[in-house]
Amino acid sequence: MNNLKGKHIILGISGGIAAYKSVTLLRLLVKAGAEVQVVITPNGKEFITPVTLSSLSGNPVISDFFTANTGEWHSHVSLGIWADAMIVAPATASTLAKMANGVADNMLVTTYLSSRCPVFVAPAMDLDMMAHPTTTRNLATLRADGVRIIEPAAGELASHLVGRGRMEEPENIAAVLNDFFGEGRPLAGRKVLVTAGPTYERIDPVRFIGNFSTGKMGYAIAAEAAKQGAEVVLVSGPTALADPEGVTTIRIESARQMLDEVLAHFADSDIAVMCAAVADYAPANYVDRKIKREHDDVDSIALVKNPDIAASVGKEKKPGQILVGFALETDNAEAHAREKLARKNLDMIVVNSLADAGAGFGTDTNKVTVISRDKTEDFALKDKREVAKDIIDCIIRYL
Ligand code: C5P
Repeated sequence: MNNLKGKHIILGISGGIAAYKSVTLLRLLVKAGAEVQVVITPNGKEFITPVTLSSLSGNPVISDFFTANTGEWHSHVSLGIWADAMIVAPATASTLAKMANGVADNMLVTTYLSSRCPVFVAPAMDLDMMAHPTTTRNLATLRADGVRIIEPAAGELASHLVGRGRMEEPENIAAVLNDFFGEGRPLAGRKVLVTAGPTYERIDPVRFIGNFSTGKMGYAIAAEAAKQGAEVVLVSGPTALADPEGVTTIRIESARQMLDEVLAHFADSDIAVMCAAVADYAPANYVDRKIKREHDDVDSIALVKNPDIAASVGKEKKPGQILVGFALETDNAEAHAREKLARKNLDMIVVNSLADAGAGFGTDTNKVTVISRDKTEDFALKDKREVAKDIIDCIIRYL
């Protein structure tokens, strides 16, 4: 259900006995990480209490146009713009009729008319109401208006009659919404781990060994993977960039800290993209006070080799996991990159040549070649966000 994470969903509840199932639906949506705003019709409140719904959604339940004692107006317009999807469950014959004809006499229908997002309805009513030409006509109108109908199942109804009209089960409604948000998002259901930025290796409390990496390329890759539906963890060295939208960002400072976080998340990942410019060396001895020119007279700093994070992950890699590395080369780029691909047990390596103007560190653009065991693809100089899309597309084709 990870396509629902962070999604804004309006749950419209109208007055039918199936309203009790909406509590389960609400719980499933919230559990999947969606933010849910419940809008209920006056009749809906006869079947299920707003207290239950507001407790589970964590948001006040909207029913009336105004709050009686304060006169506060509830904006269906901003609610309609806020939402990524609206689901009306149960949708009674009366609510479907109002929606089909624009009878905006309650908050649910008013919100529907203001919504810009995809709208789903899960009809629930007695079999004869369901089979009535009026309902059939209203559903056809709604369908033509772009509303997606989650068809009711046949079974025993509240009237004890058996027929078509049972609201679809909450688990199936949640699955329809989850699939909807996964559509056209080929990384839906996959976990992606990305490293980005430089690492800082402390010399003393005020000095470090670092490099000019800004993190832009790795952040763009993390954002693109999230956009394609992946659950993304970004392990980032010090950067001036904001956390990418929809990505779990973990900030670290040194190569050792990056290694610990990467190893903690790799086993759980389907794809790992090692984009960080990890410092190759760290000072052998950290001095825990500021080194002073006058007393210390330092003329050299002893260094130790940092762990190779990509290579460590390469050793842990299981069949089915994909590991992508980067290489920044100045000469003989493809040959060096192929050697790294093999030595670090990578599946794919993205090469940027420092020989190309506008490629590599600090710039907003990059020019890359993506190499896998049996393929080499060259891309033009582009904005790093577009380069990220090319790289993610290469990974998707590789899957
Ligand atoms: O060997 P080189 O530094 O050129 O390899 C670059 C690739 O290895 C990049 O994917 C980089 O993120 C990764 N790397 C690493 N840990 C290191 C050095 C490089 O993960 N200590």
